[in-house]
Amino acid sequence: MRIYVTKDYAEMSRKAANIISAQIIIKPDSILGLATGSTPIGTYDQLVNWYEKGDLDFSEVVTVNLDEYRGLGPESPQSYVYYMRHYLFDRVNIKPENTHLPNGLNENAEEACNDYNELLNKLGEQDLQILGIGRNGHIGFNEPDEIFDQDVHCVSLTNSTIEANKRFFEAGEEVPKYAYTMGIRSILRARKILMMASGEDKADAVKKAFFGPVTPLVPASILQLHDDVILVTDQAAYSKCANSTHTRHTAYIL
Ligand code: GLP
Repeated sequence: MRIYVTKDYAEMSRKAANIISAQIIIKPDSILGLATGSTPIGTYDQLVNWYEKGDLDFSEVVTVNLDEYRGLGPESPQSYVYYMRHYLFDRVNIKPENTHLPNGLNENAEEACNDYNELLNKLGEQDLQILGIGRNGHIGFNEPDEIFDQDVHCVSLTNSTIEANKRFFEAGEEVPKYAYTMGIRSILRARKILMMASGEDKADAVKKAFFGPVTPLVPASILQLHDDVILVTDQAAYSKCANSTHTRHTAYIL
C-alpha cells in the first residue's frame, strides 16, 4: 500500500485528483467508483477545474457510486445523486446515462439491491474505486459488524453515522435511517482503490484501518488485503500513525 501524507486538505484533494486524472487519461473509458461526503469535494472541484482547462475529458467515463439513502431521490438536496450532479456530473462532459447510483426511490430494498448488483456485474469491475472513511471506520455505508457484508445490501445506519451526517440536513429534518450500499466484495473487486482521509476526527479510524487487525468491526481494515490501495491523507488524519509501521505499507511524506 502506498500512503501519501499531505500538508492539508487542499494538498490531499490535489493529490487525489492527480491520481484520478491519470487514470482517466490512461484509460478514457475507465469505470470509476465514486464516493460522497465532505472529503472528496475538493477533489471533484480540482477535476472540474482541469476539465474546464481542457486537460480532462469525461465523455467516455462510466461511474458507479458506492451508496445512496433509501427514500431519497434526485429532487432531494441530501441525496447522493443530487450531490454527484452538483459537485461533478453537471460540471463536466460525462454522459448522464454513464452515471450510476443505487435507486434510493425504490423502497423495496431487495429489488433495489438486486438491480444495483446486476448493474455492477454487467459493467464489470471498477478500474479505480474512490473511498472516504467514516469516523467508525465505515466504507460506503458498510458499518462495523460481526461479519463483512459482501454484495450490495440495505443497511440500518448506526447512531454515530446518523449523528455525523446530520450536518448535511436542515434542523428538524430526519436523517434517513437506511441506505443502500456496495458491499465489501463490490468494493474490493476494484483494480485499484484510492482512499482519502482528512482531519483529526479521522485519525483513530485511519490508524485502526491501516495499522490494526483486519476485522469487520473496522470495515476499512479489509483494504489491507487488497493488492493495490493508495491512501491519500492529510497530516491531521495521519497524526496517530506517525510512529506506526507495517511491512506492506510505504509512506511518502509530501
Ligand atoms: C458517509 C458516506 C461515506 C463517506 C463517509 C465519510 O457516511 N456514506 O461514503 O466516506 O460518510 O464522510 P465525510 O467525508 O463527510 O467525512
